[in-house]
Amino acid sequence: MAARGKFITFEGLDGSGKSTQLEKLARSLRAHGLSVTVTREPGGTGTGEKIREVLLHSATAGLSPFTEMALMFASRAQHIHEVILPALAEGRIVLCDRFTDSTEAYQGGGRKLGSKAVLRLHEILCANLQPDLTILLDNEVSFSIERARRRNRRHKAGRSEAGRSEKSPEKDENRFEQESGAFFGRVRHAYLAIAARDPLRVHVINARGTPGETHAVIMELVRKKLKV
Ligand code: TYD
Repeated sequence: MAARGKFITFEGLDGSGKSTQLEKLARSLRAHGLSVTVTREPGGTGTGEKIREVLLHSATAGLSPFTEMALMFASRAQHIHEVILPALAEGRIVLCDRFTDSTEAYQGGGRKLGSKAVLRLHEILCANLQPDLTILLDNEVSFSIERARRRNRRHKAGRSEAGRSEKSPEKDENRFEQESGAFFGRVRHAYLAIAARDPLRVHVINARGTPGETHAVIMELVRKKLKV
């Protein structure tokens, strides 16, 4: 039987550059001959992608914070069952764009549901699965959100920059990006509190550098932590 693989998650505010960094890391690890599964939340499975559409489409109105949290976990439970655990069992490295820390930051912090409910649901619905390493890309709220909104405006105009890892242009995934600066301030605060609580797992990386500089820092961290 193959040794259990490694589970690495990327976290950060919308527009923190985590999708770009995730793809760069995947490319580098594959170049080292490693088997890598790239996936995301909400989504990552057929069912999860349908739930994602409901959660992120700006036309979804009046979703209660508890419904939002329940849908995030519904997507995640299926994702763990269908994708993450099987890939880890095969010895693969799983790179996941967002995981339960996002729920703790956005629904727990941003929507003010608190950490306790999120952690309890994670225990029940996700068997408390913990990433081996979490990379938290940190930046000022104003910087990240402006970047996310610019990206969505570009997509609305039907254009996408070649070579950039961005959301598909035809999709409306703006519901969260319409939130206020105060909301994202709470999200960032919750993220930093998670990192302070769990410093062995969660590494805060300053996301203000160029994509190449940030990638070099992440590669060094992954090599050291996972001995790859
Ligand atoms: P994502 O596609 O990663 O957005 P971006 O590329 O802009 O960072 O995530 C979609 C949105 O879903 C994002 O605004 C955060 C939100 N989200 C939650 O609120 N809770 C969660 O548990 C997850 C996984 C995502």
